[in-house]
Amino acid sequence: MHKDIQSVLVNEQEIESIVKRLAAEIDRDYADKDWLMVGVLKGSILFMADLMKAMKNDFKIDFVVVSSYADGTESTGRVNVIKDISQSIVGKDILIVEDIIDSGNTLHFLDQYLRAKGAASVNLVTLFDKPDRRVKEVPVKYVGKVIPDAFIVGYGLDYAEKYRTLPYVGILKPEVYS
Ligand code: IMP
Ligand code: MG
Repeated sequence: MHKDIQSVLVNEQEIESIVKRLAAEIDRDYADKDWLMVGVLKGSILFMADLMKAMKNDFKIDFVVVSSYADGTESTGRVNVIKDISQSIVGKDILIVEDIIDSGNTLHFLDQYLRAKGAASVNLVTLFDKPDRRVKEVPVKYVGKVIPDAFIVGYGLDYAEKYRTLPYVGILKPEVYS
């Protein structure tokens, strides 16, 4: 285990079974659609890649980069679009792929932002959900795992851009960020 990790919250086997379950649900619901999967960079990359590989249907992908955290562990509440979607989404069915929902600020914003661009539907899949810290309500269609209020890293999730490459998800030692 990495020296800055207090404990492993979700190991590789559990991640794999969560991803398989979500892939099957999304495959079923989107079977007849011409739709676009939109990953929220950078945290969602490993989850999105594994999800895509586990799915049977074909679909298009795109990415957005948004920022609300700077280098801390608390949402600032202001969401900035740093890289926008690179195609017209008018009339398209969109599934946003996110690593984790915490305050809800990011996904609340993105949901409204993509709807305002003319998407026919916008749904969300998140690998992790921390409902205890929700400030803004967000309609999440697919949730991988509900987790307690702890700051986690690994499998794409970072603290100050570190730990994204860990293959498991661990709770960061508080002394690392205090
Ligand atoms: P929200 O806007 O507060 O819901 O935060 C969502 C974003 O904050 C996620 O996309 C993550 O990038 C980041 N985030 C929230 N909680 C964690 C965590 O425990 N570890 C790493 N990143 C987190
Ligand atoms: Mg993120």
